[in-house]
Amino acid sequence: LSEVRGEGARKIGLISLNRPKQLNALNDQLMDELGHALLAFDADDGIGCIVLTGSEKAFAAGADIPVLAAHDHMSAFKNGLISSNWETILQVRKPVIAAVAGFALGGGCELAMMCDFIIAADTAKFGQPEIKLGVIPGAGGTQRLPRAVGKSKTMDMLLTSRMMDAAEAERANLVSRVVPAASLLDEALAAAQIICAMSGPAVMMIKELVNRSFEGPLRDAVQVERRMFHSLFGTSDQKEGMDAFMSKRKPEFKHGS
Ligand code: CAA
Repeated sequence: LSEVRGEGARKIGLISLNRPKQLNALNDQLMDELGHALLAFDADDGIGCIVLTGSEKAFAAGADIPVLAAHDHMSAFKNGLISSNWETILQVRKPVIAAVAGFALGGGCELAMMCDFIIAADTAKFGQPEIKLGVIPGAGGTQRLPRAVGKSKTMDMLLTSRMMDAAEAERANLVSRVVPAASLLDEALAAAQIICAMSGPAVMMIKELVNRSFEGPLRDAVQVERRMFHSLFGTSDQKEGMDAFMSKRKPEFKHGS
């Protein structure tokens, strides 16, 4: 389900995962629809930030287990189980905030970690319980979780399959903040609204650079950061932002146009 929310020149694209009976278990159809919705918002100049959420009970309880169960080694390999449609989200250049209530397990936790940051309801539970199914995470969990929470906690969670509640996830830096479940969507939309009002090119560059620090080698990333920093001095938003600060007024950004 996708809809436009917020006010102002640039609005928020809100996407809700909606397979409630299966706790939003992720299958190819849902990932295709999610990918299309994400790319449509990314291409829309009227959208400044995207929020991805699930239901009260589950952000997503992982890959669809009956679908996985039908595979053997060769069909998983040949069909590219966990197809590229699972990673469409990584092509999105605008920020994507995950608003997580309830279960974010397996592929659901991995999908949340592919977002730019996670705001959790106090009901959220994160885990990579694939080992209980005799498998391992297949959508980046063994790589992104240790980058977020460190080796020890990752090993503990992946090897024992235990879940992390929202308070632990905040202490471990998996999520940026925890809010009461009843205000999860409002809090995520409020954060998105603030981002929508910031200079679009600066927002996109921060996203790209922070993800580079997370996913790539440091030296290259710092060099690319320096070059992008320089390039922003060619925008009217930089002139406006700095002038507004020095004149003690609010900036009016043009988002690179
Ligand atoms: N796939 C398909 N269906 C799922 C599902 C999943 N991952 N998770 C839950 N469901 C379905 C259940 O089968 C159940 O359906 P029925 O009502 O038709 O029986 C419905 O959702 C409700 O689930 P429960 O009755 O189990 O609800 P609960 O509150 O007792 O437990 C839960 C909730 C702890 C999340 C439990 O459902 C559970 O452990 N789910 C599986 C979690 C999991 O193992 N995820 C990893 C999947 S593998 C993966 O994701 C690989 C990867 O890296 C990409």
